[in-house]
Amino acid sequence: AVWKVMNQLKEEGYEIEAVRNRGYALKGSADVLSAEEIMSSIHTEWAGRQVVYFDETDSTNIQARRLAEQKAPHGTLVVADRQNGGRGRRGRGWTSPSGVGIWMSLVLRPKISPASASMLTLVAALSVREGIEKETGLLAGIKWPNDLVLNGKKICGILTEMSTELMEIQYVVPGIGINVNQTEFPDEIKETAASLYLESGKIWKRSGLIAAIMEAFEKNYDIFLETGDMSGLMEEYNQYLVNRGKEVCVLAPQGEYRAMADGINREGSLLVTRADGTREEIISGEVSVRGIYGYV
Ligand code: BTN
Repeated sequence: AVWKVMNQLKEEGYEIEAVRNRGYALKGSADVLSAEEIMSSIHTEWAGRQVVYFDETDSTNIQARRLAEQKAPHGTLVVADRQNGGRGRRGRGWTSPSGVGIWMSLVLRPKISPASASMLTLVAALSVREGIEKETGLLAGIKWPNDLVLNGKKICGILTEMSTELMEIQYVVPGIGINVNQTEFPDEIKETAASLYLESGKIWKRSGLIAAIMEAFEKNYDIFLETGDMSGLMEEYNQYLVNRGKEVCVLAPQGEYRAMADGINREGSLLVTRADGTREEIISGEVSVRGIYGYV
């Protein structure tokens, strides 16, 4: 019976060695993703303490929202190995193949005004950046408001959705997609997308990354709640902002213009200076920016 279980674990990707007269030794595990593996890696108080795992689902954001409607507690984490209907921002799709990425969504129930909820996306971006650094040593930058980039290419995107009733937040769901171990990308995105593997030459364990991100998120969320804005996180955010001090193209509904990006303010808006010296405050969700020579 033990031998059978050991074989099953090997099939799941665990490295097991038979030791003569003593039994079996767990040598390590490849990039195994399962509810047990994730839960045993996470040591937080509330973020990701409850994990709902799918080998395959439509979109973890859809599942997290469904669970939130059914009273799932604050901190519930939904993770999928593969999404067949992954959603990106601006109605785009999100390529989410099996075995290589982190596709996860967190259920949050903050007692803040709905107008402040979009800042949680920035808190999530900061936490993913921190988790990646802690786990891999890789230093990703943040492209305002919530993309993470490595060497000028996108490795993470975040889609935050919210439900309100009578001007009160029912729940907020930040959905995080991280390209971890992809060795290649479809033609449509290969110029702008990268994975941690492609940028480092190493395969990373997704469960370890998820745990490090949940730890960072729990800490940053508390800092955010102290003031209800980005005051306590602004400095760190601006430190990693790849747009900072660079010329960006602001894609506003009334037309495009070029400006210099200065950094975010307490509300998480991007402050930019136009050629004539006028300063503008760009509110996330309404306007986007891109680099003048490409994505960053
Ligand atoms: C973007 O367009 O940059 C945002 C992409 C967000 C993708 C993640 S993957 C997990 C979660 N589930 C989804 O369907 N989307 C988000």
